[in-house]
Amino acid sequence: MTPQQSRRSFIKKSALTAAAAGLSACNHANAQGANGDLRVAVVGFKSRGLNHIQDIKRLEGVRLVALCDVDSEVLAKGVAANPGVQGYEDMRKMLENKDIDAVSIASPNHLHSIQGIWSLQAGKHLFIEKPLSHNIYEGRQLVAASEKYSNLIVQAGTQSRSGVGIRAAIKDVHSGVYGKVLVSRAICYKRRKSIGPAKKNAIPSTINYDLWCGPAPMAESTRGNQTDPDNETKSQGPVHYDWHWFWNWGGGDLCNQCIHEIDIARWFLNEPDVSPEVVSIGGRFGYRDAAETPNTFISVHNYAKAPLITEVYGLASSKAKNAAMNKYGKFPKAPEIGIVVECEHATIVVPDYNSAIAYGKDDRKVIKSYGKSVDQVDLSGGQSGHHANWVSHIRKGTNEGIHSPLRDCHVSTALVHSANISYRLGKRQTAAEITAAINSSAGLSEAFVRMQDHLGKNGVNLTNSKAVLGAALTQDTKTELFTGANAARANADLCARRDGRAPFRIPAVG
Ligand SMILES: NC(=O)c1ccc[n+]([C@@H]2O[C@H](COP(=O)([O-])OP(=O)(O)OC[C@H]3O[C@@H](n4cnc5c(N)ncnc54)[C@H](O)[C@@H]3O)[C@@H](O)[C@H]2O)c1
Repeated sequence: MTPQQSRRSFIKKSALTAAAAGLSACNHANAQGANGDLRVAVVGFKSRGLNHIQDIKRLEGVRLVALCDVDSEVLAKGVAANPGVQGYEDMRKMLENKDIDAVSIASPNHLHSIQGIWSLQAGKHLFIEKPLSHNIYEGRQLVAASEKYSNLIVQAGTQSRSGVGIRAAIKDVHSGVYGKVLVSRAICYKRRKSIGPAKKNAIPSTINYDLWCGPAPMAESTRGNQTDPDNETKSQGPVHYDWHWFWNWGGGDLCNQCIHEIDIARWFLNEPDVSPEVVSIGGRFGYRDAAETPNTFISVHNYAKAPLITEVYGLASSKAKNAAMNKYGKFPKAPEIGIVVECEHATIVVPDYNSAIAYGKDDRKVIKSYGKSVDQVDLSGGQSGHHANWVSHIRKGTNEGIHSPLRDCHVSTALVHSANISYRLGKRQTAAEITAAINSSAGLSEAFVRMQDHLGKNGVNLTNSKAVLGAALTQDTKTELFTGANAARANADLCARRDGRAPFRIPAVG
């Protein structure tokens, strides 16, 4: 079949599948260019969005037709590198363009929910980066929008859900090959350096800061300083990337790297909803800088069947520049960033975004290896096939079987938010006080010993520095509202709900 024949059959197949699903076949089939290409726009591409552009450009029958970024320097560079694409500063203007079928979004976290909702309201298929939201409330509205516009195909950006080996290991664990799951661990030992001291900085004139902030309050920037001798990293300026370390826009490494690991850890547990209980411990240690979010963090989400325990360590165990991180456990392929699932008859280790290994409980001998390593994956599958999986579902005209369903990303994102909320409502205490307070939780106690060991190797003593013991929170797993003693504060705007700044208010869809 020639590419043109296959494009024609793609339109025909989309129309038939949509008709069979009771949708407007006409609308669906019309959502393609004249030659049948799927016409895609990428939003936000200073860094992660460049991968989206690359992935989209190598898919057959898919055309990059527009780029949107609020930094005019980023936009100009992108348009120059991709002749023929249309450039936009304001995404709302771009969405008016009827010659765009699908939108792939890699803007900062606080924009995901509103931009996702706008895209669906404009009738575009949606690929949206993790985490799904800045707070639980807005994530629920995006899920409600995807249910309302269910003819549109949505993929969340948790790409390890396309990992071939991870999918195979999940299947075996879910079918009970290794017995019950006893605990599922999300591990994120990733060095995060100081971002330098706080100082008010002007926003570069190339950035439309009103659009960049979107629903978030237009707070001044205190980041982007490189004068600190401890600051070994090159600052990305007062706007880009380091927003991750401020509550107004980001949620620390829980919302940045660890949402990937928490998502897969919950998937292994086969738990479809948020957990009924959560508590966390953490702090920002080792340096003083402008950032607000913790660089050292543990939490336990208590599901009825088994706990999900998270460990995030941001300091390397050596002060040497670019020193390697500790690894978790003594497995032949122990992860710095990954998932460790302890089952009755085996321990499953996910050391990357694609593969998994089942080890014997006591001898740690390999029982089974799942999938290829990351550098062997191709477009037919694996994490780099995540956009391909989205496009194939657009072609089939169904969300059924898509690798990263939107609601799953929402639930996992709600877990990182609930852990952060527990931390933000907590109190600073010494190690001895925390140890006494958590002694009824074996999982948390054991993780806290590891956290102290990690901090000790980095010269931090919790008797002097104190860590935050988070508030113990309970959550209604259906409404996702907090209940019990801390409910009022936990459900307040600051933590779980932010309606957004006009004219970027989050519409109440659900
Ligand atoms: N799936 C993954 O493995 C992965 C990896 C890295 C980052 N990410 C996610 O991708 C997102 C972007 O991360 P990053 O590191 O590229 O951040 P970044 O700050 O470096 O880049 C964000 C880009 O978005 C642009 N932008 C901001 N507001 C915009 C708006 N209203 N409209 C259009 N463009 C806008 C910025 O100008 C910038 O070019 C984050 O949510 C992050 O969590 C995912």
